[in-house]
Amino acid sequence: MDDLRTFISGLPKAELHLHLEGSLEPELMFALAKRNQVDIPFADVEEISAAYNFGNLQDFLDIYYQGANVLVSEQDFFDLTMAYMKRVHRDSVAHVEVFFDPQTHTDRGIDFGSVIGGITGALKKAQGDLGITSKLIPCFLRHLSEEAAFEMLESAEPYLEFFGGVGLDSSEMGNPPAKFEKVFKAAKDKGLRLVAHAGEEGPAAYVWDALDILHVDRIDHGNRALEDEALTARLVREQITLTVCPLSNLKLCVVKNLGDHPLRRMLDLGLCATINSDDPAYFGGYINDNYLAVAQALSLGRAQLVTLAKNSFAGSFLNDKDKCEHMSAIDRYAERFN
Ligand code: ADE
Ligand code: ZN
Repeated sequence: MDDLRTFISGLPKAELHLHLEGSLEPELMFALAKRNQVDIPFADVEEISAAYNFGNLQDFLDIYYQGANVLVSEQDFFDLTMAYMKRVHRDSVAHVEVFFDPQTHTDRGIDFGSVIGGITGALKKAQGDLGITSKLIPCFLRHLSEEAAFEMLESAEPYLEFFGGVGLDSSEMGNPPAKFEKVFKAAKDKGLRLVAHAGEEGPAAYVWDALDILHVDRIDHGNRALEDEALTARLVREQITLTVCPLSNLKLCVVKNLGDHPLRRMLDLGLCATINSDDPAYFGGYINDNYLAVAQALSLGRAQLVTLAKNSFAGSFLNDKDKCEHMSAIDRYAERFN
């Protein structure tokens, strides 16, 4: 197994499903609470970690939004983003497409420009210092109204040059993709790419609707798509990328144990599945922890890990030339192990 760990460790990869607010480690949460004099209901870092037991997505979201309250200044967003970039540099991540939730911050009176300034400042520095390229994807919170989503899109107008696309996250059940049809159309008209969480807890019908009503380029999670044969066949035929998050699925009880995880079945069916960490500070692992845990649980070998890493670039919003270069780097890396 050490061989597999070594192989994963240096394998070039992209992360396509990461919520920046979900990379807020307990230590940084505690430090920022102090710096900004924000009350959090935890006495110390150990108490924060001990609270991370979730029965479902909503249990997690309640704690995640509470944690995000410590993010106040541009410097806070810079520190959060830089900590994530430094951490995944150790995991041989070459490209990231990161989510953030503007409404979580602007609804608390935080200036949109400070959020963007901090995040993009760190992404730019990470490209210079660490060589990691990135795209930034603001997500609409689906538990809020479409009108609120339009307000977010309007406030984002001055910063469009920084965005690779828009996403849809938060409480899935009861908030179907159709609720956001018009705002997704408006985002597309602005030249933005589109992604949406679908089929994490919600039914396969939400995945159909993300494709047919929102016209997304990628599906975030997509686990429950496998319950529908016609949908699975379409995802294979159109090679729609699924950004799968194994440790998240385990922590949020989407699967009972990793041995039951559908990732192997997804690969066997020819789906364009990728491995990602979702909210690593809350779910017990960054991207390589996800690769290793699922490889061990499902007996994946080097060939499947190479496919997963290639899928991560194929499904990214990079241009074709950059995608080809990353895929060649993966081939060169894998050859060293033959
Ligand atoms: N926001 C942060 N993580 C999320 C997830 N896994 N599903 C939906 N919304 C989220
Ligand atoms: Zn997510």
